[in-house]
Amino acid sequence: MNVADCVIANELMPDPAYESAWSSIIVEPSLKDRLLHATLLALQLRPKLPPEVTALHGLVLLHGPPGTGKTTLARGLAHELAPLTDSKQARLIEINPHGLMSAEHGQSQQKVFELLSDHVPSLAADGLPTIVLLDEVESMAVSRSAASLQANPADVHRATDAVLTALDSVAREHPSIITVATSNFTDALDEAFKSRSDVAIEIPLPDADGIKAILGRTLLDFGQAYPGIAKLAGDSRLDEAACSLIGVDGRRVRKVVTEALGRRRESILDPNTLTIEDLTETSREFGAMELQMEASDAAL
Ligand SMILES: Nc1ncnc2c1ncn2[C@@H]1O[C@H](COP(=O)(O)OP(=O)(O)O)[C@@H](O)[C@H]1O
Ligand SMILES: [Mg+2]
Repeated sequence: MNVADCVIANELMPDPAYESAWSSIIVEPSLKDRLLHATLLALQLRPKLPPEVTALHGLVLLHGPPGTGKTTLARGLAHELAPLTDSKQARLIEINPHGLMSAEHGQSQQKVFELLSDHVPSLAADGLPTIVLLDEVESMAVSRSAASLQANPADVHRATDAVLTALDSVAREHPSIITVATSNFTDALDEAFKSRSDVAIEIPLPDADGIKAILGRTLLDFGQAYPGIAKLAGDSRLDEAACSLIGVDGRRVRKVVTEALGRRRESILDPNTLTIEDLTETSREFGAMELQMEASDAAL
């Protein structure tokens, strides 16, 4: 596999296609502030001071359960950042490292290094503030201490080393690049990788208030096409639906509305006829399914 094939997006920001990414994710505002401020500060300091002084590597880690908005926030960050920079522009480079891990034995390390320390910087050579999104980084940065060699072939370990070495070289030579790594499994992440991150932000599952806000927001978003659905956003029984959904991630909370529409032929043919009962019923089922999955996970 060619390292260039691992770059799945290379976009200049602001870009209208990314406009709603940041605001679509409903989390504690302080989490978004930390992410944005840490990035801005690193962009401010790193061109002027070496890593020996600041201890900054230009690495931000977003971790938490799947479906909580990490990837979307990282993409939105690039858009949000652009107007705050001197150049009023920023770049988003998204890389998908998965393919590299299946490279022939012994090839991964070299390829990972080439990708991160050579190819990606060449795409950002104009010095524009650049967010490099390293999504689901656990696929390459598996903990070397916790992992058995059997579960994690030696090549993956070498690739982890390559990631760390490449990040060190990027830190020194390319102060306009900020790597945002996301991970669904923080436990499995390499300690050295974690300690190199300038900031590690946990994006948690939404609580009841968060779920209610996500449901309400989803109903309003649907309302742009089907005004009848938007009316449900203010319904007092939304609390009840939200309480049933505790433990469900943001992505699946959004899916509840589509599932609820699919329950009856009438609401499929005319989504404006969705009722609060459709929603509360679907939420109860989703919540029960979640509990079942948790129980079977615990039994494993
Ligand atoms: N906190 C949230 N608020 C609103 N929508 C969310 C939230 N978390 C997830 N979503 C929805 O789920 C989709 C997928 O989220 P994603 O960024 O891929 O999550 P992750 O990377 O954590 O798995 C988002 O585009 C959004 O529609
Ligand atoms: Mg993701």
